[in-house]
Amino acid sequence: MKILILGDAAAAAVRAAEFIAAQVTAKPASVLGLATGGTMEAVYEKLIALHRAGRASFAGAQSFNLDEYVGLSGDHPCSYRRYMAEKLFDQIDIVPDAAHLPMGEAADAEAEAARYEAAIVAAGDIDLQLLGLGLNGHIGFNEPTSSLSSITRLKTLERSTREANSRYFPEGEEPPRLAITMGIGTIMRAREVLLVATGAAKARAVAQVVEGPVSARWPGSVLQMHRHATLVLDRAAASELELFDYYLDVHPE
Ligand code: PGA
Repeated sequence: MKILILGDAAAAAVRAAEFIAAQVTAKPASVLGLATGGTMEAVYEKLIALHRAGRASFAGAQSFNLDEYVGLSGDHPCSYRRYMAEKLFDQIDIVPDAAHLPMGEAADAEAEAARYEAAIVAAGDIDLQLLGLGLNGHIGFNEPTSSLSSITRLKTLERSTREANSRYFPEGEEPPRLAITMGIGTIMRAREVLLVATGAAKARAVAQVVEGPVSARWPGSVLQMHRHATLVLDRAAASELELFDYYLDVHPE
């Protein structure tokens, strides 16, 4: 894994946005794998700035998001479809029909998961997959003990995930218990992976993922097996890495 340690969260977001911009510049017809969450908000802000500066066009690209809550329609204010529209898609030049998310409100969620996996395969799989990291080490909504070769399917969210995400839901409304998520195997087929983690709360998960054993207990640790995985961290998220100095030595800020 390539470990890049940036000074702070803003610098990490800039670095991640530049990485994505470089991908669509090198291959305008890229298939991007996109993520949601607090960390990505900053990344998308920087990406929109690059787009406005003429440094990133998505007109020829398509995208597949990692996951969506089961039971939420695309226009629910807390759906990931809505998050993506507001925080990225409506502010760049991606063709709306080329920006895919699982349909949370599908009557048959399992069939929808299978359809989504097939759509990713039909697109030729993902060129660059963007990932956040859960406090419990999840990537997408692949919670601990997810099969390391899973494909898109339903997952039950862990309590720490639902608590972390409840901040996005109105008072009294809880995040759904189930989500449709790309599998770990789906993610591992991506030709390149970019994981972004910032803030001290992520330090334990980052240390487990980077330096712990490859284990379904910390699903992101599977990226140790990926040939082109880059982790963009800020100093706080990197603070529990045993080989912190080494990573900085290899890739100085
Ligand atoms: P966060 O979520 O960016 O809101 O911390 C990351 C994740 O759970 O994948």
